[in-house]
Amino acid sequence: MADPDVVRARHADSPFLRACRGEAHETVPVWFMRQAGRALAEYREIRATHSFEEVVHTPELAAEVTLQPIRRYGTDAAILFSDIVTPVQALGMGVTIQPGVGPVVEEPIRTVGDLDRLRPLEPEADVPFVLDTVSILVDELDVPLIGFAGAPFTVASYLVEGGPSRSYTRTKALMFGDPLTWHRLMDKLADITIASLRAQVGRGASAVQLFDSWAGALHPLDYARHVEPHSARVLDALADLDVPRIHFGVNTGELLGRMAAAGADVVGVDWRTPLDEGRARIPVGVGIQGNLEPAVCLAEWDEVAARVDDVLARAGGAPDHVFNLGHGVLPPTDPAILARIVERVHTLGRTDGTVDEQVRPLPIERRAATEDA
Ligand code: CP3
Repeated sequence: MADPDVVRARHADSPFLRACRGEAHETVPVWFMRQAGRALAEYREIRATHSFEEVVHTPELAAEVTLQPIRRYGTDAAILFSDIVTPVQALGMGVTIQPGVGPVVEEPIRTVGDLDRLRPLEPEADVPFVLDTVSILVDELDVPLIGFAGAPFTVASYLVEGGPSRSYTRTKALMFGDPLTWHRLMDKLADITIASLRAQVGRGASAVQLFDSWAGALHPLDYARHVEPHSARVLDALADLDVPRIHFGVNTGELLGRMAAAGADVVGVDWRTPLDEGRARIPVGVGIQGNLEPAVCLAEWDEVAARVDDVLARAGGAPDHVFNLGHGVLPPTDPAILARIVERVHTLGRTDGTVDEQVRPLPIERRAATEDA
């Protein structure tokens, strides 16, 4: 098994890690959230004979699926193939992942008594398959591996709702109606998240991303009161590991400053906030990741290229920009488009504070092409 410190030293000067630290480097690094998955025929082929859980629980398969997008797209980082609910699933919370739906929880958490079902995570005993996947990957990869976990709020939303939700009504009802139980639940989830992330780094992950995917459902006041202290505890508990911490959520334009303040080294921005506006909302010294609209990847190449350039222009050649989508790759995306995006970002992206003259931001008030004609 590779020494995790040796693995990290091997990647320390990679564009991705240098960008996360805001250090000078040559090419703009790029990876895609949900880069492994249904957009790839080779993933669907494995899924034809194995359930999602089987893939996650079989290190050789999970490692293979993690590597598939690196081969296809040439992305600058790999993200471990697993799920944000994998730790609580391993703790016996009755979680299944249903294709096309997402995580579903048999007996949701609704009362203080339900909390007893959630015990601390012992990663080596509870999720050895995740850690073994990390070990296989860090031996094989030429690029850094990103470990990840769901942030306490987003994992809580699945456990309390019992599945995906649009309104998070039950989650908010618990948060507002029984704050004591809410904070105890969040405390337990924060401990589970810390244990999971520390163990992934312990096996050689070079960076971590904390997914608070659904935090954008909250008013900033409620985020500050009911969520941020727990995410901050998670991020603080990783500080001594000296790996970049990326903090991402969808629809979080109004929360970006707080998500940075929670202790992120890099804040992920979804596609709804123009990248330069997102940048203005986070402190100097914190990097930025994003934020091409994933659905743009379904368009013809000329449109995709113009939108890639718009992101690069708004990034302004900053050395601490990591190019990504504003959320995950959509299943109908043509992998060839993603490969071309990587190539374009690598060719046209700059990291010295300048912007290539070909690269233009699109004016937001631009009228439809038919009106221009
Ligand atoms: O490539 C990667 O991004 C790495 C693997 C990864 C998956 N899920 C694989 C997966 C990662 C990092 C996640 C994180 C995750 N899981 C998040 C946070 C990221 C985000 O999208 O905001 C969330 C909210 C989940 C919960 C979850 N699990 C959802 C919403 C789904 C999708 C449901 C669907 O089928 O549309 C899952 C299942 C899941 N996780 C799939 C994959 C590839 C699809 C499973 C399949 O093959 O059927």
